[in-house]
Amino acid sequence: MKIAVVGTGYVGLVTGTCFSETGNHVTCVDINEAKINQMKAGVVPIYEPGLEDLFHRNVEEGRLNFTTSLVEGIEGAKVIFLALPTPPGEDGSADLKYILQVANDLGPLLKEYTVIIDKSTVPVGTSELVKNAIAKNAKVPFDVVSNPEFLREGVAVEDFMKPDRVVIGTESDRAKELMTKLYAPLVRQGNPIIFMDERSAEMTKYAANAFLATKITFMNEIANLCELVGANVDDIRRGIGTDSRIGKRFLFAGIGYGGSCFPKDVQALAKTSEENNYKFHILDSVMRVNENQKTKLLPQVRQYFNHDLAGKTIAIWGLAFKPYTDDIREAPALYNIEALLEAGCTIKAYDPEAMPNVQALLGDSVQFCKNPYEALEEADALLIVTEWPQFRTPDFEKMDSLLKNKVIFDGRNLYELSQMKELGYTYYSIGRQT
Ligand code: UGA
Repeated sequence: MKIAVVGTGYVGLVTGTCFSETGNHVTCVDINEAKINQMKAGVVPIYEPGLEDLFHRNVEEGRLNFTTSLVEGIEGAKVIFLALPTPPGEDGSADLKYILQVANDLGPLLKEYTVIIDKSTVPVGTSELVKNAIAKNAKVPFDVVSNPEFLREGVAVEDFMKPDRVVIGTESDRAKELMTKLYAPLVRQGNPIIFMDERSAEMTKYAANAFLATKITFMNEIANLCELVGANVDDIRRGIGTDSRIGKRFLFAGIGYGGSCFPKDVQALAKTSEENNYKFHILDSVMRVNENQKTKLLPQVRQYFNHDLAGKTIAIWGLAFKPYTDDIREAPALYNIEALLEAGCTIKAYDPEAMPNVQALLGDSVQFCKNPYEALEEADALLIVTEWPQFRTPDFEKMDSLLKNKVIFDGRNLYELSQMKELGYTYYSIGRQT
Protein backbone atom coordinates (compact mmCIF):
# COMPACT_ATOMS: atom_id res chain seq x y z
CA MET A 1 0.00 0.00 0.00
CA LYS A 2 1.20 3.54 -0.64
CA ILE A 3 1.21 5.61 2.54
CA ALA A 4 2.04 9.20 3.38
CA VAL A 5 3.03 10.31 6.87
CA VAL A 6 2.84 14.04 7.48
CA GLY A 7 5.09 15.12 10.34
CA THR A 8 8.35 13.30 11.02
CA GLY A 9 8.60 13.81 14.75
CA TYR A 10 8.88 10.93 17.06
CA VAL A 11 5.50 9.34 16.28
CA GLY A 12 5.58 10.07 12.55
CA LEU A 13 9.02 8.68 11.96
CA VAL A 14 8.39 5.49 13.93
CA THR A 15 5.02 5.02 12.19
CA GLY A 16 6.49 5.62 8.73
CA THR A 17 9.52 3.43 9.27
CA CYS A 18 7.56 0.54 10.78
CA PHE A 19 4.92 0.58 8.05
CA SER A 20 7.67 0.48 5.42
CA GLU A 21 9.07 -2.54 7.24
CA THR A 22 5.74 -4.33 6.80
CA GLY A 23 6.07 -3.88 3.04
CA ASN A 24 4.31 -0.59 2.33
CA HIS A 25 5.72 2.29 0.31
CA VAL A 26 5.94 5.22 2.70
CA THR A 27 6.71 8.85 2.04
CA CYS A 28 7.39 11.01 5.07
CA VAL A 29 6.56 14.68 4.68
CA ASP A 30 7.88 17.50 6.85
CA ILE A 31 8.16 21.25 6.40
CA ASN A 32 11.52 21.21 8.16
CA GLU A 33 13.92 21.15 5.22
CA ALA A 34 17.03 20.56 7.33
CA LYS A 35 15.45 17.48 8.87
CA ILE A 36 14.33 16.07 5.52
CA ASN A 37 17.82 16.63 4.07
CA GLN A 38 19.33 14.96 7.10
CA MET A 39 17.14 11.88 6.59
CA LYS A 40 17.82 11.84 2.86
CA ALA A 41 21.51 11.74 3.80
CA GLY A 42 20.81 8.68 5.96
CA VAL A 43 20.80 10.32 9.39
CA VAL A 44 18.00 9.37 11.82
CA PRO A 45 17.14 12.56 13.74
CA ILE A 46 15.98 10.86 16.96
CA TYR A 47 17.49 8.24 19.23
CA GLU A 48 15.26 5.19 19.46
CA PRO A 49 16.59 1.66 19.93
CA GLY A 50 16.08 -0.49 16.83
CA LEU A 51 14.89 2.37 14.62
CA GLU A 52 18.14 2.95 12.73
CA ASP A 53 18.35 -0.57 11.38
CA LEU A 54 14.80 -0.50 10.07
CA PHE A 55 15.30 2.99 8.70
CA HIS A 56 18.41 2.12 6.69
CA ARG A 57 17.05 -1.17 5.39
CA ASN A 58 13.85 0.36 4.10
CA VAL A 59 15.54 3.41 2.64
CA GLU A 60 17.96 1.12 0.80
CA GLU A 61 15.15 -1.05 -0.46
CA GLY A 62 13.31 2.03 -1.72
CA ARG A 63 10.26 1.74 0.53
CA LEU A 64 10.97 4.78 2.70
CA ASN A 65 11.24 8.24 1.18
CA PHE A 66 11.28 11.82 2.38
CA THR A 67 10.07 15.11 1.00
CA THR A 68 9.14 18.63 2.06
CA SER A 69 6.38 18.73 -0.53
CA LEU A 70 2.89 17.70 0.57
CA VAL A 71 1.79 17.38 -3.06
CA GLU A 72 4.65 15.01 -3.87
CA GLY A 73 4.33 13.12 -0.58
CA ILE A 74 0.65 12.22 -0.92
CA GLU A 75 0.83 11.29 -4.61
CA GLY A 76 -0.90 7.91 -4.95
CA ALA A 77 -1.29 7.47 -1.16
CA LYS A 78 -4.35 5.48 -0.08
CA VAL A 79 -3.87 6.53 3.51
CA ILE A 80 -2.37 9.69 4.94
CA PHE A 81 -1.23 9.76 8.56
CA LEU A 82 -1.19 13.09 10.35
CA ALA A 83 1.48 12.92 13.04
CA LEU A 84 1.81 16.58 13.85
CA PRO A 85 2.64 18.32 17.09
CA THR A 86 -0.18 19.40 19.42
CA PRO A 87 1.72 21.56 21.93
CA PRO A 88 -0.14 22.84 24.96
CA GLY A 89 -1.42 26.35 24.45
CA GLU A 90 -1.12 28.91 27.25
CA ASP A 91 -4.30 27.60 28.91
CA GLY A 92 -3.18 23.94 28.79
CA SER A 93 -5.44 22.92 25.91
CA ALA A 94 -3.86 21.22 22.89
CA ASP A 95 -3.06 23.64 20.07
CA LEU A 96 -4.40 22.26 16.78
CA LYS A 97 -2.99 24.81 14.38
CA TYR A 98 -0.53 22.45 12.70
CA ILE A 99 -3.07 19.69 12.12
CA LEU A 100 -5.78 22.01 10.85
CA GLN A 101 -3.36 23.79 8.53
CA VAL A 102 -2.42 20.49 6.86
CA ALA A 103 -6.08 19.45 6.75
CA ASN A 104 -6.89 22.71 4.94
CA ASP A 105 -4.07 22.11 2.48
CA LEU A 106 -5.08 18.50 1.85
CA GLY A 107 -8.65 19.10 0.66
CA PRO A 108 -7.92 20.32 -2.87
CA LEU A 109 -5.02 17.87 -3.32
CA LEU A 110 -6.95 14.60 -2.90
CA LYS A 111 -7.48 12.82 -6.23
CA GLU A 112 -9.25 9.62 -5.18
CA TYR A 113 -10.86 8.11 -2.08
CA THR A 114 -8.34 8.50 0.75
CA VAL A 115 -8.30 7.74 4.45
CA ILE A 116 -6.80 10.51 6.56
CA ILE A 117 -5.67 9.30 9.95
CA ASP A 118 -5.16 11.36 13.11
CA LYS A 119 -2.19 9.73 14.81
CA SER A 120 -1.41 12.64 17.10
CA THR A 121 -2.92 12.86 20.56
CA VAL A 122 -5.79 15.24 19.94
CA PRO A 123 -8.73 16.43 22.03
CA VAL A 124 -12.13 14.86 21.59
CA GLY A 125 -13.84 16.31 18.54
CA THR A 126 -10.68 16.97 16.52
CA SER A 127 -11.44 14.43 13.80
CA GLU A 128 -14.64 16.35 13.10
CA LEU A 129 -12.65 19.57 12.76
CA VAL A 130 -10.19 17.83 10.44
CA LYS A 131 -13.09 16.41 8.42
CA ASN A 132 -14.67 19.85 8.04
CA ALA A 133 -11.37 21.48 7.08
CA ILE A 134 -10.73 18.91 4.35
CA ALA A 135 -14.35 18.89 3.15
CA LYS A 136 -14.26 22.62 2.42
CA ASN A 137 -12.23 22.02 -0.75
CA ALA A 138 -12.34 18.26 -1.36
CA LYS A 139 -13.61 16.99 -4.71
CA VAL A 140 -13.44 13.27 -3.90
CA PRO A 141 -14.81 11.14 -1.05
CA PHE A 142 -12.59 10.63 2.00
CA ASP A 143 -12.76 9.41 5.60
CA VAL A 144 -11.06 10.76 8.70
CA VAL A 145 -10.06 8.12 11.22
CA SER A 146 -8.76 8.53 14.75
CA ASN A 147 -5.98 6.03 15.39
CA PRO A 148 -4.14 7.02 18.58
CA GLU A 149 -0.70 5.58 19.21
CA PHE A 150 0.36 3.97 22.47
CA LEU A 151 4.08 3.64 21.90
CA ARG A 152 6.58 4.44 24.61
CA GLU A 153 9.79 6.26 23.91
CA GLY A 154 12.72 3.89 24.22
CA VAL A 155 10.68 0.85 23.15
CA ALA A 156 8.69 2.53 20.41
CA VAL A 157 9.62 0.13 17.63
CA GLU A 158 8.70 -2.89 19.71
CA ASP A 159 5.46 -1.27 20.88
CA PHE A 160 4.58 -0.42 17.29
CA MET A 161 5.39 -3.83 15.88
CA LYS A 162 3.72 -5.77 18.69
CA PRO A 163 0.93 -3.54 19.98
CA ASP A 164 -1.21 -4.66 22.93
CA ARG A 165 -4.10 -3.36 20.86
CA VAL A 166 -4.84 -1.07 17.95
CA VAL A 167 -7.61 1.46 18.48
CA ILE A 168 -9.42 2.64 15.35
CA GLY A 169 -12.08 5.31 15.56
CA THR A 170 -14.31 5.31 12.50
CA GLU A 171 -17.81 4.32 11.52
CA SER A 172 -16.97 3.98 7.83
CA ASP A 173 -16.81 0.37 6.59
CA ARG A 174 -14.53 1.37 3.75
CA ALA A 175 -12.04 2.93 6.14
CA LYS A 176 -12.32 -0.03 8.55
CA GLU A 177 -11.43 -2.43 5.74
CA LEU A 178 -8.37 -0.44 4.72
CA MET A 179 -7.17 -0.05 8.32
CA THR A 180 -7.63 -3.76 9.00
CA LYS A 181 -5.46 -4.56 5.98
CA LEU A 182 -2.79 -2.09 7.04
CA TYR A 183 -2.55 -3.38 10.61
CA ALA A 184 -2.94 -7.09 9.79
CA PRO A 185 0.82 -7.84 9.97
CA LEU A 186 1.02 -6.27 13.43
CA VAL A 187 -1.85 -8.11 15.12
CA ARG A 188 -1.07 -11.61 13.94
CA GLN A 189 -0.53 -12.81 17.49
CA GLY A 190 -4.16 -12.20 18.25
CA ASN A 191 -3.94 -8.78 19.79
CA PRO A 192 -7.14 -7.00 18.96
CA ILE A 193 -8.02 -4.17 16.65
CA ILE A 194 -10.71 -2.34 18.60
CA PHE A 195 -13.14 -0.36 16.49
CA MET A 196 -15.16 2.51 17.94
CA ASP A 197 -16.38 5.96 16.94
CA GLU A 198 -13.89 8.79 16.45
CA ARG A 199 -14.65 10.61 19.70
CA SER A 200 -14.24 7.49 21.80
CA ALA A 201 -10.91 6.71 20.13
CA GLU A 202 -9.66 10.21 20.88
CA MET A 203 -10.83 9.88 24.48
CA THR A 204 -9.24 6.42 24.82
CA LYS A 205 -5.78 7.87 24.31
CA TYR A 206 -6.21 10.50 27.01
CA ALA A 207 -7.80 8.01 29.38
CA ALA A 208 -4.88 5.59 28.94
CA ASN A 209 -2.19 8.18 29.63
CA ALA A 210 -4.10 9.86 32.46
CA PHE A 211 -4.73 6.48 34.07
CA LEU A 212 -1.06 5.52 33.89
CA ALA A 213 0.02 8.91 35.25
CA THR A 214 -2.49 8.44 38.08
CA LYS A 215 -1.23 4.93 38.80
CA ILE A 216 2.35 6.19 39.13
CA THR A 217 1.24 9.15 41.20
CA PHE A 218 -0.75 6.93 43.52
CA MET A 219 2.37 4.86 44.14
CA ASN A 220 4.40 8.02 44.69
CA GLU A 221 1.98 9.08 47.40
CA ILE A 222 2.03 5.62 48.96
CA ALA A 223 5.84 5.92 48.91
CA ASN A 224 5.74 9.28 50.62
CA LEU A 225 3.53 7.82 53.32
CA CYS A 226 5.73 4.69 53.61
CA GLU A 227 8.62 6.93 54.61
CA LEU A 228 6.56 8.37 57.45
CA VAL A 229 5.10 5.14 58.78
CA GLY A 230 8.27 3.04 58.45
CA ALA A 231 7.18 0.81 55.55
CA ASN A 232 8.99 -0.12 52.32
CA VAL A 233 7.30 0.79 49.01
CA ASP A 234 9.10 -2.02 47.16
CA ASP A 235 7.28 -4.53 49.31
CA ILE A 236 3.98 -2.73 48.83
CA ARG A 237 4.53 -2.84 45.07
CA ARG A 238 5.13 -6.56 45.13
CA GLY A 239 2.28 -7.05 47.53
CA ILE A 240 -0.33 -5.29 45.44
CA GLY A 241 1.09 -5.84 41.93
CA THR A 242 0.51 -9.58 42.13
CA ASP A 243 -3.22 -8.88 42.29
CA SER A 244 -4.13 -9.25 38.62
CA ARG A 245 -6.78 -6.55 39.00
CA ILE A 246 -3.99 -4.09 39.81
CA GLY A 247 -1.18 -5.44 37.62
CA LYS A 248 2.59 -5.31 38.09
CA ARG A 249 3.47 -2.55 35.68
CA PHE A 250 3.72 1.18 36.25
CA LEU A 251 3.87 0.79 40.01
CA PHE A 252 7.42 2.05 40.46
CA ALA A 253 7.62 5.00 42.80
CA GLY A 254 10.23 7.60 41.96
CA ILE A 255 10.85 11.29 41.52
CA GLY A 256 7.87 11.90 39.30
CA TYR A 257 6.86 11.23 35.75
CA GLY A 258 8.08 13.45 32.92
CA GLY A 259 8.30 13.32 29.14
CA SER A 260 6.34 14.80 26.33
CA CYS A 261 3.14 12.83 26.93
CA PHE A 262 1.91 12.35 30.49
CA PRO A 263 2.32 15.96 31.67
CA LYS A 264 0.80 17.38 28.48
CA ASP A 265 -2.04 14.87 28.22
CA VAL A 266 -3.10 15.05 31.86
CA GLN A 267 -3.21 18.82 31.54
CA ALA A 268 -5.17 18.68 28.28
CA LEU A 269 -7.72 16.23 29.70
CA ALA A 270 -8.21 18.46 32.74
CA LYS A 271 -8.79 21.33 30.32
CA THR A 272 -11.33 19.33 28.31
CA SER A 273 -13.17 18.57 31.56
CA GLU A 274 -13.18 22.22 32.53
CA GLU A 275 -14.54 23.20 29.12
CA ASN A 276 -17.37 20.73 29.67
CA ASN A 277 -18.10 22.11 33.14
CA TYR A 278 -16.86 18.98 34.83
CA LYS A 279 -14.31 19.12 37.63
CA PHE A 280 -11.98 16.14 37.21
CA HIS A 281 -10.66 16.20 40.78
CA ILE A 282 -8.18 13.32 40.48
CA LEU A 283 -6.32 14.97 37.61
CA ASP A 284 -5.74 18.15 39.62
CA SER A 285 -4.21 16.09 42.41
CA VAL A 286 -2.08 14.08 39.99
CA MET A 287 -0.59 17.24 38.53
CA ARG A 288 0.02 18.80 41.95
CA VAL A 289 1.58 15.70 43.48
CA ASN A 290 3.84 15.14 40.48
CA GLU A 291 5.08 18.72 40.58
CA ASN A 292 6.23 18.25 44.18
CA GLN A 293 7.58 14.77 43.57
CA LYS A 294 10.17 15.95 41.05
CA THR A 295 12.15 17.81 43.69
CA LYS A 296 11.24 15.50 46.51
CA LEU A 297 14.82 14.66 47.46
CA LEU A 298 15.99 18.25 47.73
CA PRO A 299 14.86 18.85 51.32
CA GLN A 300 16.95 15.82 52.32
CA VAL A 301 19.93 17.14 50.36
CA ARG A 302 19.58 20.48 52.14
CA GLN A 303 19.24 18.87 55.51
CA TYR A 304 22.26 16.62 54.96
CA PHE A 305 24.39 19.70 54.28
CA ASN A 306 22.90 21.69 57.18
CA HIS A 307 21.06 23.99 54.82
CA ASP A 308 24.29 25.28 53.38
CA LEU A 309 24.57 24.16 49.77
CA ALA A 310 26.65 27.08 48.50
CA GLY A 311 29.92 25.80 47.06
CA LYS A 312 28.90 22.14 47.18
CA THR A 313 29.42 19.93 44.13
CA ILE A 314 26.58 17.56 43.30
CA ALA A 315 27.03 14.69 40.84
CA ILE A 316 23.92 13.84 38.85
CA TRP A 317 23.44 10.48 37.16
CA GLY A 318 20.75 10.62 34.51
CA LEU A 319 19.22 13.60 32.72
CA ALA A 320 16.71 12.06 30.31
CA PHE A 321 13.14 11.75 31.65
CA LYS A 322 13.60 7.98 31.52
CA PRO A 323 16.20 5.50 30.21
CA TYR A 324 16.75 4.68 26.51
CA THR A 325 15.89 8.14 25.30
CA ASP A 326 17.64 11.49 24.90
CA ASP A 327 14.36 13.29 25.59
CA ILE A 328 14.56 15.82 28.42
CA ARG A 329 11.09 17.31 28.14
CA GLU A 330 9.67 17.76 31.66
CA ALA A 331 12.59 15.70 32.95
CA PRO A 332 12.86 15.72 36.76
CA ALA A 333 16.64 16.26 36.37
CA LEU A 334 16.07 19.76 35.02
CA TYR A 335 14.02 20.82 38.04
CA ASN A 336 16.67 19.53 40.42
CA ILE A 337 19.52 21.14 38.50
CA GLU A 338 17.75 24.48 38.47
CA ALA A 339 17.17 24.42 42.24
CA LEU A 340 20.69 23.24 43.03
CA LEU A 341 22.30 25.86 40.81
CA GLU A 342 20.19 28.50 42.48
CA ALA A 343 21.42 27.30 45.86
CA GLY A 344 25.01 27.84 44.70
CA CYS A 345 25.99 24.25 43.85
CA THR A 346 28.27 23.09 41.07
CA ILE A 347 26.66 20.33 38.99
CA LYS A 348 28.62 17.52 37.38
CA ALA A 349 26.31 15.44 35.23
CA TYR A 350 26.43 12.26 33.24
CA ASP A 351 23.81 10.72 30.95
CA PRO A 352 24.54 8.26 28.12
CA GLU A 353 22.26 10.03 25.62
CA ALA A 354 20.75 13.27 26.88
CA MET A 355 23.79 15.47 27.57
CA PRO A 356 23.73 17.30 24.21
CA ASN A 357 20.10 18.27 24.75
CA VAL A 358 20.77 19.59 28.25
CA GLN A 359 23.83 21.44 27.01
CA ALA A 360 21.74 23.09 24.30
CA LEU A 361 19.28 24.19 26.99
CA LEU A 362 21.54 25.14 29.90
CA GLY A 363 24.92 25.70 28.26
CA ASP A 364 27.97 25.75 30.50
CA SER A 365 26.10 26.10 33.78
CA VAL A 366 26.44 22.32 34.08
CA GLN A 367 29.68 20.33 33.76
CA PHE A 368 29.13 17.34 31.48
CA CYS A 369 31.23 14.27 32.17
CA LYS A 370 32.50 11.45 29.99
CA ASN A 371 31.33 8.69 32.30
CA PRO A 372 29.50 8.25 35.61
CA TYR A 373 32.71 8.12 37.63
CA GLU A 374 34.11 11.36 36.27
CA ALA A 375 30.97 13.04 37.61
CA LEU A 376 31.84 11.78 41.11
CA GLU A 377 35.34 13.29 41.21
CA GLU A 378 35.41 15.85 44.03
CA ALA A 379 31.62 15.64 44.36
CA ASP A 380 30.04 16.11 47.77
CA ALA A 381 27.06 13.86 46.98
CA LEU A 382 25.45 11.81 44.23
CA LEU A 383 21.88 12.35 43.04
CA ILE A 384 20.41 9.64 40.80
CA VAL A 385 17.57 10.80 38.59
CA THR A 386 17.25 8.31 35.70
CA GLU A 387 17.47 4.54 36.00
CA TRP A 388 19.87 3.79 33.14
CA PRO A 389 20.89 0.12 33.54
CA GLN A 390 24.59 1.02 33.84
CA PHE A 391 23.86 2.82 37.13
CA ARG A 392 22.38 -0.30 38.71
CA THR A 393 25.58 -2.18 39.42
CA PRO A 394 28.34 0.42 39.72
CA ASP A 395 31.80 -0.18 41.11
CA PHE A 396 31.10 0.95 44.66
CA GLU A 397 34.76 0.77 45.66
CA LYS A 398 35.67 3.16 42.90
CA MET A 399 32.78 5.39 43.93
CA ASP A 400 34.08 5.51 47.51
CA SER A 401 37.45 6.72 46.36
CA LEU A 402 35.92 9.53 44.30
CA LEU A 403 33.01 10.88 46.34
CA LYS A 404 33.89 13.24 49.20
CA ASN A 405 31.01 11.91 51.31
CA LYS A 406 29.49 8.46 51.20
CA VAL A 407 26.00 9.76 50.49
CA ILE A 408 23.58 8.90 47.69
CA PHE A 409 20.19 10.48 46.99
CA ASP A 410 18.45 7.97 44.77
CA GLY A 411 15.26 9.04 42.99
CA ARG A 412 14.83 5.63 41.32
CA ASN A 413 15.41 3.12 44.12
CA LEU A 414 18.26 1.37 42.31
CA TYR A 415 19.92 -0.29 45.29
CA GLU A 416 18.93 -2.58 48.12
CA LEU A 417 18.84 -0.95 51.54
CA SER A 418 20.81 -3.82 53.07
CA GLN A 419 23.57 -3.47 50.49
CA MET A 420 23.90 0.25 51.13
CA LYS A 421 24.06 -0.34 54.85
CA GLU A 422 26.77 -2.93 54.43
CA LEU A 423 28.78 -0.59 52.22
CA GLY A 424 28.43 2.18 54.79
CA TYR A 425 26.51 4.66 52.66
CA THR A 426 24.03 7.20 53.87
CA TYR A 427 21.32 6.36 51.41
CA TYR A 428 18.15 8.30 50.74
CA SER A 429 15.61 6.79 48.33
CA ILE A 430 11.88 6.98 47.66
CA GLY A 431 9.37 5.34 49.97
CA ARG A 432 11.97 3.43 51.98
CA GLN A 433 13.80 4.02 55.22
CA THR A 434 17.11 5.89 55.28
C1 UGA B 1 3.69 7.26 27.46
C2 UGA B 1 2.79 6.01 27.43
O1 UGA B 1 3.33 4.98 28.26
C3 UGA B 1 2.62 5.49 26.00
O2 UGA B 1 1.70 4.40 25.98
C4 UGA B 1 2.09 6.63 25.12
O3 UGA B 1 1.94 6.24 23.79
C5 UGA B 1 3.04 7.79 25.19
O4 UGA B 1 3.17 8.22 26.55
C6 UGA B 1 2.49 8.91 24.33
O5 UGA B 1 1.41 9.43 24.66
O6 UGA B 1 3.06 9.20 23.29
P1 UGA B 1 6.36 7.67 27.41
O7 UGA B 1 6.03 9.08 27.77
O8 UGA B 1 7.29 7.40 26.29
O9 UGA B 1 5.00 6.85 27.04
O10 UGA B 1 7.01 7.01 28.69
P2 UGA B 1 6.61 5.97 29.81
O11 UGA B 1 7.46 4.78 29.69
O12 UGA B 1 5.16 5.77 29.86
O13 UGA B 1 7.09 6.78 31.11
C7 UGA B 1 6.52 8.03 31.45
C8 UGA B 1 7.06 8.53 32.75
O14 UGA B 1 6.57 7.74 33.83
C9 UGA B 1 8.58 8.49 32.88
O15 UGA B 1 9.00 9.71 33.45
C10 UGA B 1 8.85 7.34 33.82
O16 UGA B 1 10.02 7.50 34.57
C11 UGA B 1 7.63 7.39 34.71
N1 UGA B 1 7.30 6.10 35.35
C12 UGA B 1 6.89 5.05 34.60
C13 UGA B 1 7.39 5.97 36.72
O17 UGA B 1 7.77 6.95 37.44
N2 UGA B 1 7.06 4.79 37.31
C14 UGA B 1 6.65 3.72 36.59
O18 UGA B 1 6.35 2.68 37.20
C15 UGA B 1 6.56 3.85 35.20
